[in-house]
Amino acid sequence: MSAPLGWGVLGTGGIVRRWLPGFRAAGGTLVALGSRDPARGRAAAAELGAARGGTYEDVLADRAVEAVYVALPNALHAEWTIRAAEAGKHVLCEKPLAPSAAECEAMVAACERRGVHLVEAFMYRYHPRWSAVRRRLDEGSIGQVRLLRVAFGFRMGPERDADVRLSPELGGGALQDVGCYCVNATRWFLGEPGAVRGRAVDRRGRGVDTHAAAVLEYPDGVLAELSCSFDSALGQSMEIVGERGRIALPGTFLPGTGEAPLDVIDAGGEHREVVGGVDQYRLEVEAFRDLVRDGTPTLIPGSDGAATQRVIAAWRRAG
Ligand SMILES: NC(=O)c1ccc[n+]([C@@H]2O[C@H](COP(=O)([O-])OP(=O)(O)OC[C@H]3O[C@@H](n4cnc5c(N)ncnc54)[C@H](OP(=O)(O)O)[C@@H]3O)[C@@H](O)[C@H]2O)c1
Repeated sequence: MSAPLGWGVLGTGGIVRRWLPGFRAAGGTLVALGSRDPARGRAAAAELGAARGGTYEDVLADRAVEAVYVALPNALHAEWTIRAAEAGKHVLCEKPLAPSAAECEAMVAACERRGVHLVEAFMYRYHPRWSAVRRRLDEGSIGQVRLLRVAFGFRMGPERDADVRLSPELGGGALQDVGCYCVNATRWFLGEPGAVRGRAVDRRGRGVDTHAAAVLEYPDGVLAELSCSFDSALGQSMEIVGERGRIALPGTFLPGTGEAPLDVIDAGGEHREVVGGVDQYRLEVEAFRDLVRDGTPTLIPGSDGAATQRVIAAWRRAG
C-alpha cells in the first residue's frame, strides 16, 4: 500500500462529516481544515482531529497539505479548485464539479497547468456492485439495453429553508444536487445523448429548480428516463432494461455500508444477487491516493465534469 496523503479540507458542513469515517478508514492524514471563519476552522479541526484549523487560505498555504478536498457549495468549487491547483495541491472536488461546463473546463485547465490531479467526488462509482452490473451486461444476461431509468430525490421540509441547495447564488437546485448523479450514471452507461427533452420546475419560487424529469435519446431508439426532486419521496433507483431482462439497484447512489442488493430478471427468472458492504468514501480516498502516488487511473477525471454540465444545461433549456 502506498504512503497516505496529507489532506486539507475546505468547508465544515454536512458532507465533511459524512466523508470523514471513510477517510479515516483509508488511513488518510487530516493535516488542516478550513472555514470562512477561522475560529470555526480551529474548532472544527479540534473536533474532527485535524492537526491545524483556520481559513481556506491557511489550508492552501500549508506545506504539509498535498491534496485538498473541496467540500463547499457548488458555486465555490471552481474558484477554490483553481486556487488549490495554483498552490500546487491535488484536488478532490465534490459533485457537481461546477455548475457550468465553462467553469469545469477552467478547473481542468488550471490543474493541467500546474500538473496536479483533479477528480470529481462521485463516490458511488467506487461501489463494487457496479462491477456486478457490468459483468451481467457484458455476459448478455439481459440482452441489448433498451431503456435506462434513474431517479434521485427527497423531500426537503421547511426546516431546510436556509439550505445551500435552495440558493441560486450558491449553485443550488435539484438538477445540480441530485440530477447530476442521474446524468453522470446515464452517461457512464450510455455515453453522450443525441437529444435531451425535459422539464425543470421551480415549485418553491426560490429561483432554483426543485423538481425535474427528462428523456435522453440514443441511437437505435435507446432511451433514458431521468428524474430528480426536492419536493417528493422519489428516493434513489436505477433500472437497466434489456430486451430479455432487467437489473435494478435499490439505494442506487447511497446503498449504505451494508450488503448491497441487485435485483435481476433474466433467463434464470427473478433473483437477488447481494454484493458485500463497503464504505464508498473510503474507496474514493484510497483511489485518490493510488492516483497521486502510483498513477493508477481515476474512474472520474475532472475532464468528465463538463460533459455532465452540458446535459444538465440542455435539460434546463428544454424545460
Ligand atoms: N458526495 C456526496 O455524498 C455528497 C453529499 C452531500 C453533499 N455533497 C456536496 O458537497 C458540497 C457541500 O455540501 P454540504 O451538504 O456539505 O453543504 P453544507 O452542509 O451547507 O456545508 C457547506 C459548507 O460550505 C461552507 N460555505 C462557504 N460559503 C458558504 C455560504 N455562502 N453558505 C453556506 N456555506 C458556505 C460552510 O463552511 P464554513 O462556513 O465553515 O467555511 C459550510 O459548512 C456540495 O457541493 C454538495 O453537492 C456531496
